[in-house]
Amino acid sequence: MSATEAPSAGATVWLTGLPSAGKTTLAHAVTGRLPGPAEVLDGDELRAVLSPELGHSRADRALNVSRIGYLARLLARNGITAVVAVVSPFADARLKVRAEHAAEGVPFVEVHVATPLRICRERDVKGLYERWRTGEVRELTGVDSPYEPPEDPELWLDTTGRSLSSCAGEVCAALADRVRR
Ligand SMILES: Nc1ncnc2c1ncn2[C@@H]1O[C@H](COP(=O)(O)OP(=O)(O)OP(=O)(O)O)[C@@H](O)[C@H]1O
Ligand SMILES: [Mg+2]
Repeated sequence: MSATEAPSAGATVWLTGLPSAGKTTLAHAVTGRLPGPAEVLDGDELRAVLSPELGHSRADRALNVSRIGYLARLLARNGITAVVAVVSPFADARLKVRAEHAAEGVPFVEVHVATPLRICRERDVKGLYERWRTGEVRELTGVDSPYEPPEDPELWLDTTGRSLSSCAGEVCAALADRVRR
């Protein structure tokens, strides 16, 4: 690329939803389909690296989301599509990240992975719902800690009974639509 050529546009795709909703699975599928540079920012991985001292209180979750939002914005404004997979249950914390992206003109695509709790419990990929049942885990989103659904996401996606490929396609289409504007 010459010095005068504009860098490719980045964006943030923010997948929010209950544990086992499909965020991580979708994030990898979406990233694999994108033509340009893209990175998955996964809540579990980043919590271990960036926020090991944080718990699951409202304040701690907000701080974790804020750190991930900062990182996503940094990548996105440098031409990398950041595909974020994090429960991010609180609306105000997500709105803050959205506003920070808007302030810099960085496209932000919020996807509510709206798989219902009943299905998430059945999937229970990490055994969290079962560990809640036996009392090993508390403050589990959707069970004894609230999930505040986005009021106006760019995409609402219930993965129940749907193929990964079709869901990933919808996310990519929402991204393309947002970046085109
Ligand atoms: N259409 C679909 N899209 C995404 N995942 C799907 C779909 N259909 C079934 N699944 C399954 O649902 C599960 C979702 O697990 P995943 O780890 O992605 O959830 P998560 O939202 O990242 O949960 P957590 O918040 O606990 O990290 C996987 O086992 C995946 O194969
Ligand atoms: Mg995950």
